[in-house]
Amino acid sequence: MSDSTAGQRPGDSEDGRPELGGPAERPRRVIGTPPPAEARSLLSGALTEAAQAEEGALARRELPSDPEDMAKAKRAERVVAACFILAMLAGFGFIASYVIFHTGSVTAVQHSNLALGSTMALAFLAMGVGATIWVRHIMPDVELTEQRHPIRSEPQDREAFAETFWEGADASQFAKRPILRRTLIAATVPMAIAPIVLLRDLGPLPGTSLDHTVWRKGMRLLTYGANTPITPADFSSPGGMITVVPDGYQNDFNALAKAACIIIKFAPGQVYYTTKPYPVSGYTVENWTVDNIVCYSKICTHVGCPAALYEQTTHHILCPCHQSTFDATRGAEVIFGPATRPLPQLPMTVDAQGYLVARSDFTEPVGPSFWERGPST
Ligand code: FES
Repeated sequence: MSDSTAGQRPGDSEDGRPELGGPAERPRRVIGTPPPAEARSLLSGALTEAAQAEEGALARRELPSDPEDMAKAKRAERVVAACFILAMLAGFGFIASYVIFHTGSVTAVQHSNLALGSTMALAFLAMGVGATIWVRHIMPDVELTEQRHPIRSEPQDREAFAETFWEGADASQFAKRPILRRTLIAATVPMAIAPIVLLRDLGPLPGTSLDHTVWRKGMRLLTYGANTPITPADFSSPGGMITVVPDGYQNDFNALAKAACIIIKFAPGQVYYTTKPYPVSGYTVENWTVDNIVCYSKICTHVGCPAALYEQTTHHILCPCHQSTFDATRGAEVIFGPATRPLPQLPMTVDAQGYLVARSDFTEPVGPSFWERGPST
Protein backbone atom coordinates (compact mmCIF):
# COMPACT_ATOMS: atom_id res chain seq x y z
CA MET A 1 0.00 0.00 0.00
CA SER A 2 1.44 3.36 -0.98
CA ASP A 3 1.57 6.41 1.30
CA SER A 4 -1.11 8.12 -0.71
CA THR A 5 -3.58 5.41 0.13
CA ALA A 6 -2.46 4.69 3.68
CA GLY A 7 -5.39 4.91 6.09
CA GLN A 8 -7.84 5.11 3.24
CA ARG A 9 -10.93 3.04 3.79
CA PRO A 10 -12.85 1.21 1.10
CA GLY A 11 -15.13 3.73 -0.51
CA ASP A 12 -12.88 6.75 0.25
CA SER A 13 -11.97 8.99 -2.65
CA GLU A 14 -8.41 9.60 -3.74
CA ASP A 15 -8.19 12.85 -1.79
CA GLY A 16 -9.00 10.97 1.38
CA ARG A 17 -12.58 12.24 1.75
CA PRO A 18 -15.13 9.52 2.24
CA GLU A 19 -17.26 8.98 -0.81
CA LEU A 20 -20.94 9.65 -0.26
CA GLY A 21 -22.27 6.77 1.79
CA GLY A 22 -19.72 4.24 0.53
CA PRO A 23 -20.08 2.17 -2.64
CA ALA A 24 -22.51 -0.35 -1.24
CA GLU A 25 -24.73 2.12 0.57
CA ARG A 26 -25.44 5.22 -1.44
CA PRO A 27 -27.55 5.46 -4.58
CA ARG A 28 -25.42 6.00 -7.66
CA ARG A 29 -26.17 7.07 -11.18
CA VAL A 30 -24.54 4.93 -13.81
CA ILE A 31 -24.34 6.10 -17.38
CA GLY A 32 -24.15 3.37 -19.95
CA THR A 33 -25.26 -0.26 -20.06
CA PRO A 34 -26.55 -1.37 -16.64
CA PRO A 35 -25.04 -4.45 -14.92
CA PRO A 36 -26.91 -7.76 -15.04
CA ALA A 37 -30.11 -7.99 -13.06
CA GLU A 38 -28.70 -10.43 -10.52
CA ALA A 39 -25.94 -7.98 -9.68
CA ARG A 40 -28.63 -5.34 -8.96
CA SER A 41 -30.84 -7.57 -6.84
CA LEU A 42 -32.40 -5.76 -3.92
CA LEU A 43 -32.44 -9.06 -2.01
CA SER A 44 -28.70 -9.32 -1.84
CA GLY A 45 -28.49 -6.12 0.21
CA ALA A 46 -25.18 -5.29 -1.48
CA LEU A 47 -23.59 -5.64 -4.85
CA THR A 48 -21.78 -8.88 -5.49
CA GLU A 49 -18.08 -8.78 -6.20
CA ALA A 50 -18.68 -9.63 -9.84
CA ALA A 51 -21.17 -6.80 -10.15
CA GLN A 52 -18.79 -4.37 -8.50
CA ALA A 53 -16.04 -5.41 -10.88
CA GLU A 54 -18.38 -4.96 -13.81
CA GLU A 55 -19.49 -1.57 -12.57
CA GLY A 56 -15.91 -0.49 -12.18
CA ALA A 57 -15.43 -1.33 -15.82
CA LEU A 58 -18.26 0.97 -16.85
CA ALA A 59 -17.10 4.16 -18.37
CA ARG A 60 -18.11 7.05 -16.11
CA ARG A 61 -18.81 10.29 -17.86
CA GLU A 62 -20.79 13.46 -17.32
CA LEU A 63 -24.07 14.12 -19.07
CA PRO A 64 -23.40 16.11 -22.21
CA SER A 65 -25.07 19.49 -21.89
CA ASP A 66 -25.78 19.77 -25.63
CA PRO A 67 -27.23 17.28 -28.09
CA GLU A 68 -24.94 15.84 -30.74
CA ASP A 69 -26.83 17.30 -33.69
CA MET A 70 -27.35 20.98 -32.92
CA ALA A 71 -29.09 21.72 -36.24
CA LYS A 72 -31.63 18.98 -35.61
CA ALA A 73 -32.10 20.26 -32.08
CA LYS A 74 -32.79 23.73 -33.40
CA ARG A 75 -35.50 22.41 -35.72
CA ALA A 76 -37.00 20.44 -32.86
CA GLU A 77 -36.94 23.54 -30.72
CA ARG A 78 -39.15 25.37 -33.18
CA VAL A 79 -41.60 22.48 -33.33
CA VAL A 80 -41.76 22.28 -29.54
CA ALA A 81 -42.33 26.02 -29.27
CA ALA A 82 -45.16 25.74 -31.82
CA CYS A 83 -46.74 22.96 -29.74
CA PHE A 84 -46.57 25.03 -26.59
CA ILE A 85 -48.08 28.04 -28.34
CA LEU A 86 -50.87 25.81 -29.65
CA ALA A 87 -51.42 24.55 -26.09
CA MET A 88 -51.62 28.12 -24.87
CA LEU A 89 -54.18 29.07 -27.53
CA ALA A 90 -56.23 25.96 -26.78
CA GLY A 91 -56.14 26.84 -23.09
CA PHE A 92 -57.48 30.28 -23.78
CA GLY A 93 -60.01 28.64 -26.10
CA PHE A 94 -61.20 26.55 -23.15
CA ILE A 95 -61.79 29.66 -21.08
CA ALA A 96 -63.48 31.42 -23.98
CA SER A 97 -65.72 28.39 -24.56
CA TYR A 98 -66.74 28.42 -20.94
CA VAL A 99 -67.75 32.05 -21.17
CA ILE A 100 -69.35 31.97 -24.63
CA PHE A 101 -71.36 28.75 -24.50
CA HIS A 102 -74.29 28.73 -22.13
CA THR A 103 -76.17 25.77 -20.73
CA GLY A 104 -79.82 26.71 -20.91
CA SER A 105 -80.87 23.65 -22.92
CA VAL A 106 -79.73 20.13 -23.71
CA THR A 107 -78.42 21.26 -27.10
CA ALA A 108 -76.53 24.14 -25.51
CA VAL A 109 -74.98 21.79 -22.97
CA GLN A 110 -73.87 19.48 -25.78
CA HIS A 111 -72.24 22.37 -27.63
CA SER A 112 -70.61 23.61 -24.44
CA ASN A 113 -69.26 20.18 -23.55
CA LEU A 114 -67.94 19.67 -27.08
CA ALA A 115 -66.11 23.01 -27.06
CA LEU A 116 -64.74 22.55 -23.54
CA GLY A 117 -63.66 18.98 -24.13
CA SER A 118 -62.01 19.58 -27.49
CA THR A 119 -60.08 22.66 -26.38
CA MET A 120 -58.91 21.00 -23.17
CA ALA A 121 -57.91 17.85 -25.06
CA LEU A 122 -56.03 19.90 -27.65
CA ALA A 123 -54.19 21.83 -24.93
CA PHE A 124 -53.01 18.68 -23.16
CA LEU A 125 -52.20 16.94 -26.44
CA ALA A 126 -50.05 19.83 -27.65
CA MET A 127 -48.30 20.01 -24.28
CA GLY A 128 -47.62 16.29 -24.36
CA VAL A 129 -46.33 16.28 -27.94
CA GLY A 130 -44.10 19.27 -27.24
CA ALA A 131 -42.66 17.69 -24.10
CA THR A 132 -42.03 14.41 -25.92
CA ILE A 133 -40.20 16.04 -28.81
CA TRP A 134 -38.20 18.10 -26.33
CA VAL A 135 -37.02 15.01 -24.48
CA ARG A 136 -36.34 12.91 -27.57
CA HIS A 137 -34.62 15.42 -29.83
CA ILE A 138 -33.13 18.13 -27.63
CA MET A 139 -32.03 16.45 -24.43
CA PRO A 140 -28.90 14.19 -24.59
CA ASP A 141 -29.73 10.62 -25.55
CA VAL A 142 -28.05 8.54 -22.85
CA GLU A 143 -29.17 5.60 -20.80
CA LEU A 144 -29.23 6.06 -17.03
CA THR A 145 -29.39 3.36 -14.42
CA GLU A 146 -30.17 4.22 -10.83
CA GLN A 147 -29.01 1.75 -8.20
CA ARG A 148 -31.78 1.28 -5.72
CA HIS A 149 -30.86 0.91 -2.08
CA PRO A 150 -32.58 1.90 1.13
CA ILE A 151 -33.37 5.57 0.95
CA ARG A 152 -31.39 7.71 3.33
CA SER A 153 -31.47 11.42 3.86
CA GLU A 154 -27.87 11.93 4.86
CA PRO A 155 -26.51 15.38 4.10
CA GLN A 156 -24.14 13.85 1.57
CA ASP A 157 -27.10 12.29 -0.23
CA ARG A 158 -28.93 15.58 -0.37
CA GLU A 159 -25.85 17.24 -1.79
CA ALA A 160 -25.55 14.50 -4.37
CA PHE A 161 -29.22 14.91 -5.26
CA ALA A 162 -28.84 18.66 -5.68
CA GLU A 163 -25.82 18.12 -7.86
CA THR A 164 -27.72 15.63 -9.99
CA PHE A 165 -30.76 17.89 -10.21
CA TRP A 166 -28.82 20.87 -11.50
CA GLU A 167 -26.91 18.66 -13.88
CA GLY A 168 -30.20 17.38 -15.26
CA ALA A 169 -31.65 20.88 -15.40
CA ASP A 170 -28.64 21.98 -17.37
CA ALA A 171 -28.97 19.02 -19.71
CA SER A 172 -32.67 19.76 -20.27
CA GLN A 173 -31.64 23.08 -21.84
CA PHE A 174 -34.41 24.79 -19.92
CA ALA A 175 -32.19 27.73 -18.99
CA LYS A 176 -30.34 27.87 -22.28
CA ARG A 177 -33.37 27.97 -24.53
CA PRO A 178 -35.50 30.93 -23.51
CA ILE A 179 -38.03 30.38 -26.30
CA LEU A 180 -38.87 26.95 -24.94
CA ARG A 181 -38.93 28.18 -21.38
CA ARG A 182 -41.21 31.09 -22.16
CA THR A 183 -43.61 29.21 -24.39
CA LEU A 184 -43.88 26.41 -21.82
CA ILE A 185 -44.71 28.92 -19.11
CA ALA A 186 -47.18 30.65 -21.43
CA ALA A 187 -48.85 27.32 -22.16
CA THR A 188 -49.43 26.62 -18.49
CA VAL A 189 -50.87 30.05 -17.67
CA PRO A 190 -54.41 29.50 -19.06
CA MET A 191 -54.60 26.11 -17.39
CA ALA A 192 -53.70 27.70 -14.09
CA ILE A 193 -56.34 30.40 -14.36
CA ALA A 194 -59.08 28.12 -15.76
CA PRO A 195 -60.22 27.03 -12.26
CA ILE A 196 -60.71 30.69 -11.35
CA VAL A 197 -63.07 31.11 -14.30
CA LEU A 198 -65.00 28.05 -13.13
CA LEU A 199 -65.90 29.94 -9.95
CA ARG A 200 -68.65 31.46 -12.07
CA ASP A 201 -70.58 28.23 -11.51
CA LEU A 202 -71.13 29.25 -7.91
CA GLY A 203 -73.79 31.45 -9.43
CA PRO A 204 -75.39 34.61 -8.09
CA LEU A 205 -76.05 34.93 -4.39
CA PRO A 206 -79.56 33.71 -3.53
CA GLY A 207 -80.48 36.87 -1.69
CA THR A 208 -83.83 36.43 0.01
CA SER A 209 -85.22 34.01 -2.58
CA LEU A 210 -84.83 31.04 -0.24
CA ASP A 211 -86.86 32.76 2.44
CA HIS A 212 -90.06 32.64 0.40
CA THR A 213 -92.21 30.31 -1.67
CA VAL A 214 -94.68 31.08 -4.44
CA TRP A 215 -97.68 30.92 -2.11
CA ARG A 216 -99.60 34.19 -2.11
CA LYS A 217 -102.80 35.44 -0.54
CA GLY A 218 -105.86 33.95 -2.31
CA MET A 219 -103.90 31.27 -4.20
CA ARG A 220 -105.92 28.06 -4.36
CA LEU A 221 -104.70 24.73 -3.06
CA LEU A 222 -104.85 22.09 -5.82
CA THR A 223 -104.66 18.35 -5.29
CA TYR A 224 -101.31 17.14 -6.63
CA GLY A 225 -101.75 15.16 -9.84
CA ALA A 226 -105.45 15.87 -10.45
CA ASN A 227 -104.84 19.63 -10.15
CA THR A 228 -108.34 20.29 -8.84
CA PRO A 229 -109.28 22.86 -6.21
CA ILE A 230 -110.58 21.56 -2.90
CA THR A 231 -113.50 22.54 -0.73
CA PRO A 232 -113.64 21.56 2.95
CA ALA A 233 -116.58 19.34 2.07
CA ASP A 234 -114.43 17.43 -0.45
CA PHE A 235 -112.06 16.58 2.34
CA SER A 236 -114.38 15.74 5.17
CA SER A 237 -113.13 12.34 6.41
CA PRO A 238 -110.87 12.71 9.49
CA GLY A 239 -107.57 10.91 9.14
CA GLY A 240 -107.05 11.74 5.48
CA MET A 241 -103.87 13.31 4.15
CA ILE A 242 -103.21 14.59 0.62
CA THR A 243 -100.48 16.56 -1.11
CA VAL A 244 -101.45 19.96 -2.43
CA VAL A 245 -99.70 22.43 -4.73
CA PRO A 246 -100.23 26.13 -5.47
CA ASP A 247 -102.59 26.96 -8.35
CA GLY A 248 -100.58 28.03 -11.37
CA TYR A 249 -97.41 26.22 -10.30
CA GLN A 250 -98.60 22.62 -10.47
CA ASN A 251 -96.05 21.83 -13.23
CA ASP A 252 -93.24 24.08 -12.00
CA PHE A 253 -90.96 21.66 -10.21
CA ASN A 254 -88.55 24.38 -9.11
CA ALA A 255 -91.40 26.13 -7.32
CA LEU A 256 -92.83 22.88 -5.97
CA ALA A 257 -89.47 21.97 -4.45
CA LYS A 258 -90.28 24.55 -1.78
CA ALA A 259 -94.05 25.02 -2.06
CA ALA A 260 -95.40 21.46 -1.87
CA CYS A 261 -97.68 20.99 1.14
CA ILE A 262 -99.79 18.38 2.84
CA ILE A 263 -103.25 18.92 4.25
CA ILE A 264 -104.65 16.70 7.00
CA LYS A 265 -108.23 16.43 8.19
CA PHE A 266 -108.73 15.99 11.94
CA ALA A 267 -111.75 15.15 14.03
CA PRO A 268 -112.88 17.87 16.41
CA GLY A 269 -110.78 18.05 19.57
CA GLN A 270 -107.78 16.18 18.14
CA VAL A 271 -105.60 19.24 17.48
CA TYR A 272 -103.80 21.31 20.12
CA TYR A 273 -104.63 24.82 18.95
CA THR A 274 -103.24 28.19 19.86
CA THR A 275 -105.40 31.21 19.30
CA LYS A 276 -102.33 33.38 18.74
CA PRO A 277 -101.97 34.53 15.11
CA TYR A 278 -98.43 33.19 14.83
CA PRO A 279 -96.70 29.83 15.40
CA VAL A 280 -96.27 28.76 19.02
CA SER A 281 -94.10 25.77 19.88
CA GLY A 282 -96.21 22.63 20.38
CA TYR A 283 -99.41 24.14 18.99
CA THR A 284 -101.18 24.56 15.67
CA VAL A 285 -102.40 28.05 14.78
CA GLU A 286 -106.18 27.71 14.81
CA ASN A 287 -106.85 30.79 12.73
CA TRP A 288 -104.84 29.24 9.87
CA THR A 289 -107.02 26.14 9.65
CA VAL A 290 -110.45 25.47 8.09
CA ASP A 291 -112.83 22.92 9.59
CA ASN A 292 -109.97 21.13 11.34
CA ILE A 293 -108.07 20.90 8.06
CA VAL A 294 -104.43 21.77 8.67
CA CYS A 295 -101.79 22.55 6.05
CA TYR A 296 -98.05 21.98 6.65
CA SER A 297 -95.01 22.23 4.41
CA LYS A 298 -94.11 18.88 2.90
CA ILE A 299 -90.39 19.71 2.84
CA CYS A 300 -88.59 18.06 5.74
CA THR A 301 -86.72 20.52 7.92
CA HIS A 302 -83.77 18.14 8.20
CA VAL A 303 -82.31 18.13 4.71
CA GLY A 304 -85.36 18.65 2.55
CA CYS A 305 -86.80 15.24 1.65
CA PRO A 306 -90.56 15.09 1.12
CA ALA A 307 -92.14 14.18 4.45
CA ALA A 308 -94.90 12.21 2.83
CA LEU A 309 -95.84 9.39 5.21
CA TYR A 310 -98.73 9.85 7.62
CA GLU A 311 -99.80 7.56 10.44
CA GLN A 312 -103.53 8.03 10.96
CA THR A 313 -103.65 6.48 14.43
CA THR A 314 -100.79 8.46 15.96
CA HIS A 315 -101.12 11.56 13.74
CA HIS A 316 -97.41 11.40 13.04
CA ILE A 317 -95.88 12.70 9.83
CA LEU A 318 -92.79 10.64 8.92
CA CYS A 319 -89.89 11.56 6.71
CA PRO A 320 -88.59 8.40 4.99
CA CYS A 321 -85.05 9.70 4.54
CA HIS A 322 -83.83 9.74 8.15
CA GLN A 323 -86.99 8.96 10.08
CA SER A 324 -87.71 12.41 11.42
CA THR A 325 -91.18 12.32 12.94
CA PHE A 326 -93.50 15.29 13.38
CA ASP A 327 -96.67 15.50 15.51
CA ALA A 328 -99.38 16.88 13.23
CA THR A 329 -101.67 17.69 16.17
CA ARG A 330 -99.06 19.95 17.78
CA GLY A 331 -97.96 22.28 15.04
CA ALA A 332 -95.88 19.50 13.41
CA GLU A 333 -93.30 19.71 16.19
CA VAL A 334 -90.42 17.25 16.02
CA ILE A 335 -90.83 14.22 18.28
CA PHE A 336 -88.10 12.01 16.80
CA GLY A 337 -85.18 12.10 14.39
CA PRO A 338 -82.52 14.53 13.25
CA ALA A 339 -84.84 17.40 12.26
CA THR A 340 -84.78 20.20 14.81
CA ARG A 341 -87.56 22.44 13.56
CA PRO A 342 -91.32 21.88 13.03
CA LEU A 343 -92.76 21.71 9.54
CA PRO A 344 -93.96 25.28 8.86
CA GLN A 345 -97.74 25.73 8.78
CA LEU A 346 -99.33 27.43 5.78
CA PRO A 347 -101.98 30.01 6.74
CA MET A 348 -105.24 28.89 5.07
CA THR A 349 -108.82 30.03 4.57
CA VAL A 350 -111.56 29.67 1.92
CA ASP A 351 -112.35 32.02 -0.95
CA ALA A 352 -115.71 33.29 -2.13
CA GLN A 353 -116.37 30.05 -4.04
CA GLY A 354 -115.63 27.98 -0.92
CA TYR A 355 -112.27 26.61 -2.09
CA LEU A 356 -109.28 26.29 0.19
CA VAL A 357 -106.82 29.13 -0.45
CA ALA A 358 -103.67 30.46 1.17
CA ARG A 359 -103.93 33.46 3.46
CA SER A 360 -100.34 34.35 2.65
CA ASP A 361 -96.95 32.77 2.07
CA PHE A 362 -95.39 30.80 4.93
CA THR A 363 -94.39 33.07 7.77
CA GLU A 364 -91.04 31.29 8.10
CA PRO A 365 -88.67 29.66 5.61
CA VAL A 366 -89.40 26.09 4.63
CA GLY A 367 -86.85 23.34 4.28
CA PRO A 368 -83.60 22.37 5.95
CA SER A 369 -82.91 23.43 9.48
CA PHE A 370 -79.98 25.69 8.76
CA TRP A 371 -82.78 28.23 8.49
CA GLU A 372 -82.98 28.05 12.27
CA ARG A 373 -80.60 30.94 12.17
CA GLY A 374 -83.60 32.86 10.89
CA PRO A 375 -84.54 34.43 7.58
CA SER A 376 -82.16 36.94 6.07
CA THR A 377 -84.80 39.62 5.89
S1 FES B 1 -84.53 14.73 5.33
FE1 FES B 1 -86.15 14.18 6.60
S2 FES B 1 -85.25 13.18 8.22
FE2 FES B 1 -83.57 13.73 6.97
